[in-house]
Amino acid sequence: MAITVEPSGQSCGARITGVNLASELAPSTVAAIRKAWLEHRVVSFPGQTRMDDDALERFTVAMGGFGEDPFFDPIPGRTHIAAILREADEQSPLFAENWHSDWSFLPRPPAGTCLLSIDIPPVGGDTLFANQIAAFNALPDDRKAQLRTLTAIHSARAAYAPDGAYGEKDEGRSMAIRPDPSARETCTHPLVQRHPETGEEALFSCFGYIIGIEGMADAEAIALLTELYHWQSREEFVYRHQWEPDMLILWDNRSVLHRATGGYEGHRRELHRTTIAAH
Ligand code: SIN
Repeated sequence: MAITVEPSGQSCGARITGVNLASELAPSTVAAIRKAWLEHRVVSFPGQTRMDDDALERFTVAMGGFGEDPFFDPIPGRTHIAAILREADEQSPLFAENWHSDWSFLPRPPAGTCLLSIDIPPVGGDTLFANQIAAFNALPDDRKAQLRTLTAIHSARAAYAPDGAYGEKDEGRSMAIRPDPSARETCTHPLVQRHPETGEEALFSCFGYIIGIEGMADAEAIALLTELYHWQSREEFVYRHQWEPDMLILWDNRSVLHRATGGYEGHRRELHRTTIAAH
């Protein structure tokens, strides 16, 4: 049966129905999902009442295989599934509230990320996505030309080093985050990248995991990255994803930024996450 794809009407995002992700997927269905994913950048699958961790793993493998997940412990009994978890009474700062592209500081950042709803609060907890192909396309030509020449320096230090936001002083967090001195390592990527599958140009990652620009003084680089951060997350590039129980979403880290939002104080929220390796 053919899948149905309904675009969100926002800068990216689409809902896919007509597929049961708990069953074995035909190659033609996988191809149709991949096509929709590349076109809409974020796809959601509502009503997946039979989806469990086994099905999440099978789907991740079908979409390209498991990526590396540093600084998280997996959930018990699994190697590649992490829990994005916040208990109802948790007081620690929200996890992943700043815009980012997952693990962009790795030499081979993941192509995509899957999140499966486990416990969805009745209000709040939306995930926001910002389309970085649209953000790049909307820049003036001279700015595009300048940005194409730049190499960004990425690092996880502000988040996952022992003195980072999720480091030793981060108390009372229910997520299994494991800070490590290796988070201080750096890795470079072009600031503007051609999408390996669609050929479109996108701004890749943003201030936060990007800590500087090669050959540029820190003050100048921070000013540029801060200005770009505001541009990259403008309302016109954003898709607001509202969660439902029994829903899986899949996004493309090469073409979108994302961030978590709050607004569900007093409620538990849990999602199971896998990353899809780049090839
Ligand atoms: C994430 O960045 O993986 C989590 C997003 C969310 O909690 O909405």
